Amino acid sequence: PGFTVEVLPEIDSTSSELMRRLRAGQPEPTLLVAERQTAGRGRLGRDWKSAVGDSLTFSLSLPLAPADWSGLSLAVGVSVAESLHPDLQLKWPNDVWLEGRKLGGILIETAGPGSTGRHVVIGIGINIAVPSADAAQGLSTPPAGLRERLPGIDAATTLLQLAEPLVRNVLLFEQHGFAAFQTRFARHDLLLNRPLRLSNGVEGIGRGVDAGGALQVMTSEGLQAITSAEVSVRPA
Ligand code: BTN
Repeated sequence: PGFTVEVLPEIDSTSSELMRRLRAGQPEPTLLVAERQTAGRGRLGRDWKSAVGDSLTFSLSLPLAPADWSGLSLAVGVSVAESLHPDLQLKWPNDVWLEGRKLGGILIETAGPGSTGRHVVIGIGINIAVPSADAAQGLSTPPAGLRERLPGIDAATTLLQLAEPLVRNVLLFEQHGFAAFQTRFARHDLLLNRPLRLSNGVEGIGRGVDAGGALQVMTSEGLQAITSAEVSVRPA
């Protein structure tokens, strides 16, 4: 399916803009890239501040009607990791990491059903430049930059590598759900076999992600399937 590509020098948030358009009855599939976001958003109402220097921030809006939405951010993560570098790791549910530091994030939002039907806005932010020591100040997780692995890459090239597989993978997700991505996710799973602590206090060992996208954690009480939590890796 085709989509329009639009590049803006500055906007509050590419995801906010595409959500506004959907609510205003403008559902045309659009990939919106911003050179700068003034109010980038992360999951759970957090800010997304692009690391100082180059970064790629874009959102894609598409009509989408999967039988089950769970696992879409994981499928998008798989697409990002496979498109950019085999060393990229995915931290359930929506972070892209490199060498123990956060490289990027994924924000999935849906609009409808309304006059325009069900739509998704997939927002992706990727740090391109190798972050300076200063850039890490005040962030809960220190940042990584794609140039640590791909020297000389820029935001435009990164977008070109990401866009076509992203659309293909989102349509694959619509047809088959997360099951089509489960093995592929495992190759990049940052939490696999690591000691974890969940935001609800539960501790255990990461045992992968099930076919519905739930994080599996082996605890003292047995295997638990987690559908929503903040997870951190416990230092060994
Ligand atoms: C997270 O780490 O919680 C998700 C971060 C998602 C950031 C991207 S940047 C492009 C798009 N526009 C936004 O405001 N957020 C997403």
